[in-house]
Amino acid sequence: MLDDYLQDFKNTFDGNPLKIILRYIFLTLYGIFKYLPTPIGDILRAIFLKFFLKKIDTLWIREGITFHFPENISIGDSYLGEFVYMNGYGGIEIGNKVLIGTDTKIFSHDHNFSDLTKPIWHQGLVKKPVIIKDDVFIGCAVTILGNVTINSGAVIGAGSVVAEDVPENSIVAGVPAKVIGMRGKN
Ligand SMILES: CC(C)(COP(=O)(O)OP(=O)(O)OC[C@H]1O[C@@H](n2cnc3c(N)ncnc32)[C@H](O)[C@@H]1OP(=O)(O)O)[C@@H](O)C(=O)NCCC(=O)NCCS
Repeated sequence: MLDDYLQDFKNTFDGNPLKIILRYIFLTLYGIFKYLPTPIGDILRAIFLKFFLKKIDTLWIREGITFHFPENISIGDSYLGEFVYMNGYGGIEIGNKVLIGTDTKIFSHDHNFSDLTKPIWHQGLVKKPVIIKDDVFIGCAVTILGNVTINSGAVIGAGSVVAEDVPENSIVAGVPAKVIGMRGKN
């Protein structure tokens, strides 16, 4: 059990003890603010996260939001709904005026799994950045996978799984998400 725990450190931080310590300081201290109710909670989270995220320029940080690898996450003047989950291992960039619905999950990494002789657990992670440009509306409970760019003005339907780039001003929905319309057209 301990072996797996130590292997996890090695895989995710290249064994860098400073990064490991910072990660656990962040996770422990953020736990104090994570579930504080809105609106005081939003403000305290915004102040706290300024110290740990690459960039965060919003006060709209609802309760229960999870951040992993906060140092690789950049968020503009945007809205984050309750229980949003972000894993910034491969980098997440969110622009301005983006609305992210409750329970949405964003993953910027994947597990390697090509080697049949080792458990997937021990094959390490691969970085897959996610970019969300300005003025995007992401419905509730959307899953956004790595190596995806969501272009400006796009709308993502509730419950969708976004596995490829989303064109500007398009409306996408479904699993996997496909274009179902364009904004401004009937
Ligand atoms: C995606 C969305 C914006 C589409 O709105 P719309 O352009 O008015 O589209 P329509 O309702 O006319 O639906 C068009 C088609 O897409 C389908 N569709 C709509 N939303 C869908 C979704 N989330 N997942 C899968 N299919 C969806 C409809 O069933 C319809 O299919 P059909 O042509 O086979 O009948 C809307 O349905 C949605 O999911 N909004 C997000 C709501 C939400 O999460 N709110 C909380 C915010 S915090």
